[in-house]
Amino acid sequence: MAQQLGETKAREEWGTRLGFVCAAVGSAVGLGNIWRFPYITGENGGAAFIVVYLLCILLCGLPIMIAELTIGRKAQSDAVGSFEVLAPGKLWIVGGVLGVLAGFFILSFYSVVAGWALKYFATAVSGSLWEIDKAGFGQFFGDYIAQSWEPIFWQGTMMAMTIYIVAGGVKKGLERWNRILIPALAIMVILLAGFSLTLDGAAKGVAFLFTPDWKKLGDPNVYLLALGQAFFSLSIGMAVFITYGSYLSQSSRIPVMASATAAGDTIFAIIAGLAIFPAVFAFGFDPSAGAGLSFITLPGLFQAMPGGMVVGPLFFLLLVFAALTSMASLLEVPVAFFMRVLEAPRGKIAIITGFVIFAIGIPSSLGFGVLGHIKWGDKTILDIMDFLMLNLALPIGGMITALFVGWAWQQQSVLSDVGLGKNVLGFCWLWLLKVVAPLMVLFVFLHKLNLV
Ligand code: PHE
Repeated sequence: MAQQLGETKAREEWGTRLGFVCAAVGSAVGLGNIWRFPYITGENGGAAFIVVYLLCILLCGLPIMIAELTIGRKAQSDAVGSFEVLAPGKLWIVGGVLGVLAGFFILSFYSVVAGWALKYFATAVSGSLWEIDKAGFGQFFGDYIAQSWEPIFWQGTMMAMTIYIVAGGVKKGLERWNRILIPALAIMVILLAGFSLTLDGAAKGVAFLFTPDWKKLGDPNVYLLALGQAFFSLSIGMAVFITYGSYLSQSSRIPVMASATAAGDTIFAIIAGLAIFPAVFAFGFDPSAGAGLSFITLPGLFQAMPGGMVVGPLFFLLLVFAALTSMASLLEVPVAFFMRVLEAPRGKIAIITGFVIFAIGIPSSLGFGVLGHIKWGDKTILDIMDFLMLNLALPIGGMITALFVGWAWQQQSVLSDVGLGKNVLGFCWLWLLKVVAPLMVLFVFLHKLNLV
């Protein structure tokens, strides 16, 4: 099939199953788990939000991840090419195009936040972060992101590292680096959580994460946020797993590997919460501090806690590594696409695409300073991008994938393609794709338009 698209060389493949799972978890675990999940959970009542989030993962996220991998493995092509192979001339291709575009835009603002993390890591290691007055972290952060050049420099550094990984290829770039960074990440987050849980007063933080306040479930916004977060955190809805699936061998067991990935991502988010909230409560900080949690609340916390000079750099290194592995997957989607369409070598395409995305991201960075007047309500350029991508592009992309696999594929064929067979599990998966996942996305959209 690959030949139909003019590919003559054999398609790259993952070296081992473990290598694939590391790369998939590397894509899923990122700023979404460590920066975004804790603050959204904090703002939305803690445990009740987590319950809704888990349902979104199970009913919507995991089935769509399995569907994306199945599309990629069957078609053996990139985001757009896969739809061309499986449904030539049909409109489904929109799903792939949207994925490539989302790759561009998400990576453009994601690299800005990743750059902040790298800057904080550098200042935490050099020690200058700890010279700031206890009450001054908010000011420091605000002043820093309002600058023009320095944040762009760190953003560019993160992009350069990402390009390096992707240019290395599937086995020698993505797989190799994820196999190093993912175990390192796991060790770091477990160490941080272990330390946080031993602090006096940690129990309040644990209770906050695990004792639901059911009243919160009456707020429909919670569902929108939970669904958007589930898509973002699992990296679904933008064809990362179509692209990654195309590097899988036919014998790999997609449902098992996808479940491992989704479980890894969710467990990681919860452990990140256990690293953050017990410490936040132990020192009497505010759990619902919003997006500034990682960059304002936590530095103050590290300064106040014993051992903070070690824990602080470790936390920001965690953030940097987690961001880097996700950025590599975001870049891989457009790179795989352009490699086929332009028939150009990987290295060249990775550099050019990475550079263009870096440039697109510059306004997101400047939106906190010289471009601060460009706003939509109270949203800065970065917030607008984040909002459009997470609440529109990813859910629409995910819905197209669910409907495509659920309705446009022959039931018989799809069950054998995914490797589930005609059993309860297979039919459950199909019905989640056919009905449940699309309805969940639809409901959330209608609500957003104030129609329900
Ligand atoms: N899943 C990543 C995170 O949690 C972000 C991401 C989204 C990566 C979409 C790839 C695709 O940070």
